[in-house]
Amino acid sequence: MQIPEKGKSQAEVKAALEGLGGRDAHWRDGKTLGYIYDAGPEVEEIGKWAYMRYLTENALAPNVFPSLMQIENELVAMAAGHLGDVPGVVGNFTSGGTESCLLAVKTARDYSRATKPHIKEPEVILPVTAHAAFQKGCHYLGIKKVLVPVSPKTYKADPAVIEKAITPNTIQIVSSAVSYAHGVLDPIEEIARVAQKHNLLFHVDGCIGGFLLPYFKRLGAKLGEFDFRVPGVTSMSMDLHKYAYCPKGASVVLHRSKDLRRFQMFVTADWTGYTIVNPTIQSAKSGGPMAAAWAVMNFLGDEGYLRLAERIWSATKKIVAGIRETHGLRLVGEPDSNQVAFTSDKFSCFHLIDEMAARGWGIQPQFGYHGSEANVHISIGQKTFDQADDFLAALRESVSACADKGFSQIAVKVKAELANMKPGAFNPTMMGDLMRAAGVEDGQLPRKAAELNQILNELPPAVTQFVLTEFMNDRYIYRPRR
Ligand SMILES: Cc1ncc(COP(=O)(O)O)c(C=O)c1O
Repeated sequence: MQIPEKGKSQAEVKAALEGLGGRDAHWRDGKTLGYIYDAGPEVEEIGKWAYMRYLTENALAPNVFPSLMQIENELVAMAAGHLGDVPGVVGNFTSGGTESCLLAVKTARDYSRATKPHIKEPEVILPVTAHAAFQKGCHYLGIKKVLVPVSPKTYKADPAVIEKAITPNTIQIVSSAVSYAHGVLDPIEEIARVAQKHNLLFHVDGCIGGFLLPYFKRLGAKLGEFDFRVPGVTSMSMDLHKYAYCPKGASVVLHRSKDLRRFQMFVTADWTGYTIVNPTIQSAKSGGPMAAAWAVMNFLGDEGYLRLAERIWSATKKIVAGIRETHGLRLVGEPDSNQVAFTSDKFSCFHLIDEMAARGWGIQPQFGYHGSEANVHISIGQKTFDQADDFLAALRESVSACADKGFSQIAVKVKAELANMKPGAFNPTMMGDLMRAAGVEDGQLPRKAAELNQILNELPPAVTQFVLTEFMNDRYIYRPRR
């Protein structure tokens, strides 16, 4: 494909993009229970206005755009105020949860290089429920990830198991407030005591839960402490583009002190161009996301957030109760927040995804790894408050529609044949066979999820990773539009 020889009119360009977007999820209806965090049209409007106002300003250069440094510092101060208001806490605005988590790991690596130079092969302890972003961080930064099991009943990280996994090479422990998969809060105070006892850094990932939990507590939720008020917590991440309803990408990474945050920075004067001083991963970056976050937070204010959190809290209680009462469904974990996982013993829960999609609802598959069984996930939004009955009705209908679908026989066969397979032994022919068996057309994204998800769920994680790499490597290729 070539760049079009002649430019199009603005109207043509807009119409073409609108046409492309027509196939995307219609999330404003509130029925996409993941990926989207929507607080309604007014919040969208002020966020967009501020985003556009600062779209072209460059946060690489606070000397040229001093307003952006002020905006960033105010955002971080509000975040620190929200997470315990402990003096000395500093941080930065990042492009999202993944960048915040990566920077927490990078800080730990460089801090340990400076303070524990004898450690040559650093290790980070990750409960299996810690977000995959930390695995990505370890992968990018050359750190060994040490995955440890969580309680098979509650899916919470286990302080004793974590302590056992500590070696002379350990540099950091990670826990979640809350975990994405099951929405549970790890026992942060106990894990912090372990971290302190062994003189280790301790990151609490509040990307998805950090913003809401303080509101849930104010509304009466009985939850343990999880923020900087807990001695031993050395860093935290909290996304603003989730339940602070700011446009993507907006997150913060916070450190207990400037002394620690120093190791997050990348600075070089050792080349022929301008001096690089990057507190975060991006260098040149649009001021749009941070200005939009500032606008939304100032527009909603604490009162507005409390009101929205209350809607999520009641919607979650209603939906959790509804799932409990639905014959054929079972909760996986007891959520402390608004992330809810559930499954079925009667049929593959992945059929629910297709059935709910046919009724307009978007829900997510989660594979059964590391002692967590295959399940489906929903992140309940504030709009769900008005739609909880509709959601539960669609879910009950879907459960009835799934009653005789059972479990995939192909998946059972795949499990028997491939369970011990090494990823390297998997070849393109097998890949093609697998995709055809799952009903996926050449070069297309799957139309229905149940068969493919059941098959992937049975493969060892390393093989699934291989399959997904090949699959997506083949999808990100230009093909003419159908
Ligand atoms: C607990 C947790 N940490 C980190 C992330 C990564 O955030 P992002 O998708 O913004 O990169 C997520 C995303 O859902 C999350 O739930």
